[in-house]
Amino acid sequence: MNYCRISGLGYYLPEKVLTNQDLEKMVDTSDEWIRQRTGIELRHIAGEDELPSDMALKASLQALEQSQIKPEDLDFILVATLYPDQLMPNTACELQRKLGISNVPSLDISAACSGFVYGLSIASQYIQSGTYKNILVVGTETLHHITNYEDRTTCILFGDGAGAFVVSQTDDPQKGCVYHQELQAYGDLGELLFISSPGAKQAAKKDFNTGKQDTYIHMDGQKVFRKAVQIMCDAYEKALKDTGRTPDQIDWLVPHQANERILKKFCKSTSFPEEKVIFDIKETGNTSSASIPLSMARAVEQGKIKRGQDILMVAMGGGMTSGSILLRY
Ligand code: COA
Repeated sequence: MNYCRISGLGYYLPEKVLTNQDLEKMVDTSDEWIRQRTGIELRHIAGEDELPSDMALKASLQALEQSQIKPEDLDFILVATLYPDQLMPNTACELQRKLGISNVPSLDISAACSGFVYGLSIASQYIQSGTYKNILVVGTETLHHITNYEDRTTCILFGDGAGAFVVSQTDDPQKGCVYHQELQAYGDLGELLFISSPGAKQAAKKDFNTGKQDTYIHMDGQKVFRKAVQIMCDAYEKALKDTGRTPDQIDWLVPHQANERILKKFCKSTSFPEEKVIFDIKETGNTSSASIPLSMARAVEQGKIKRGQDILMVAMGGGMTSGSILLRY
C-alpha cells in the first residue's frame, strides 16, 4: 500500500506589517472592535515587487529542506492562490522556474480559501495511487492587491503570506498517512464572497476599458460567518463518522484562519476543546489559501504539533468551497 505523508513544511510572512492602529488611520474602525470581532491584531503585507511565486519559493525551500528532498526530485507542483502572479503562465510554472527545475507538471488551483486543502487532496490521490512520489503543495497570497482599504468590513481581515508542504510516498502509515478527505462546493452561494475582475464576466461589460474595473474582494460577512461555522461543524461530524473516531482521537484541529470567532463558535457547537485548536490569526489575519499550511508549519515550529499526532484540517472559502482532511502527521 502507498500512503501519503507530510515530509516537510515551510512558511513565509513578509516583513512589512499593517496593524490595527494603522487601519484606525485609514477607515472608521478601532483596534478594540477588530480584536473583539476577529481576533486579529496585525497582518503582513508583501513588498512592492514581491509576487505570490516569490513568497511560494521561500516557503517551498524551507519545506524541501525539512523533507530532505531536492527540487529535482519533485514529481508535481500544485499552487493554490486567489490572485496569481499573472493569468499565464500559471504561478506553479513560475515557482518551478524559480526553483531552478524544469519538466515537472505544474498546476494552479483556484478554490479560494479552500485551495490548499483541494491541492493536498489531489496530491494525496496521486501519491496513494503510486503515480508520484513527491509533490509540492503551496498556498500563497498577496491579498493586499485585491483588498479595498476604504471598506472597513473587509480590509481589517486580510493579510499576505505563503505556506508549503512536501508530501511523499511511504509504505509505513505510522510515518504519516491520510485517513479521510472530503471536498465540497456550493455554487449557489457564490455571491456571498467574490472578486469579479480580472475575468471574462467583467470584460464582457461595456466599461471594461474605461479603467473602472472592480478588482476588490466583496463579502457578505454575516452570511459567510454562519456558513463557515456550519461547514466546520459538518466536516468535523463527517470525519468522525466516516473514520469511526471519537473526538479525543483527534489531537489538533488546524482550521482555515478566517475569524477567531468562527473557530470559537465551532468549539461551542461541537464541544470540541479550544485547547486542541490552532488559533493563528492574531499576527497574520486571514491569508486565504496560505492560512492552513502557514498555521500548521508555525504550530510544528512552536512544538505544539508533533509527529505521530492526528490532525483535522478544515477550510472554507469563496465559491463557496470547502474541504477537510484528517491525517497522521
Ligand atoms: N470597525 C468598526 N465597525 C465596523 C467595522 C469595522 N471594521 N466593520 C463593520 N462595522 C460595523 C457595521 O457597520 C455594523 O454597524 P451598524 O450596527 O451600525 O450597522 C456593526 O459594526 C456590526 O456589523 P456586522 O457586519 O454585524 O459585524 P460582524 O460581527 O458580523 O463582524 C465581520 C463583521 C466581517 C468581522 C464578520 O462578519 C466576519 O468575520 N465574517 C466572516 C468573514 C470571513 O471569514 N470571510 C472569509 C471567509 S473565507
